[in-house]
Amino acid sequence: MKDIERILYTEEQIKAKVAELGRQITRDYEGKNLLLCCILKGSLVFMSDLMRQIDLPLTIDFMKVSSYGHGTESSGDVRVLLDLSVNLPEYDLLIVEDIFDSGRTLAKLTELLRVRGPRSLKLCTLFSKPERHNVELPIDYLGFELPDEFVVGYGLDYAEHYRNLPYLGVLKREVYE
Ligand code: IMP
Ligand code: MG
Repeated sequence: MKDIERILYTEEQIKAKVAELGRQITRDYEGKNLLLCCILKGSLVFMSDLMRQIDLPLTIDFMKVSSYGHGTESSGDVRVLLDLSVNLPEYDLLIVEDIFDSGRTLAKLTELLRVRGPRSLKLCTLFSKPERHNVELPIDYLGFELPDEFVVGYGLDYAEHYRNLPYLGVLKREVYE
């Protein structure tokens, strides 16, 4: 792909990590009432692979929040565009997010969902950029830590493009500068 500077994680590496996360979640949620909440749109690819690596009965639902618009920086203004449609007190909620960047999106979301009283609430994120964290949150299930670079693929976009790349790559600076 001409806009990609280099590949950080291949399809195979991501697949192995997602399988490992699925095994951990399967172990931890035995006997619970697991609800996977996919944060649209970025987590769609991760969620669809992850749920098939969890060997338990589970429920899925979706939330959509605005965070970036078309830039590469989080605005801090997180708005709910699509909400869950289930009764949270019945569920052990696991939020499935693509990437923990500044942390503003997840901080806001967990705050919002916690007050609705799920039985339990945990976070799962495939990628994290520790150097960019603005808010610290305990991540219960984490895939990979990344350097401070703008990445795309495996669901992650720049201006709604590149989500369909099967790997995670660094976007060439000239594309967004
Ligand atoms: P945060 O609120 O700054 O943590 O931003 C979280 C959201 O920003 C993620 O759910 C992604 O959609 C998006 N995001 C953050 N970093 C990147 C990146 O490197 N590439 C693509 N999207 C990103
Ligand atoms: Mg995005």
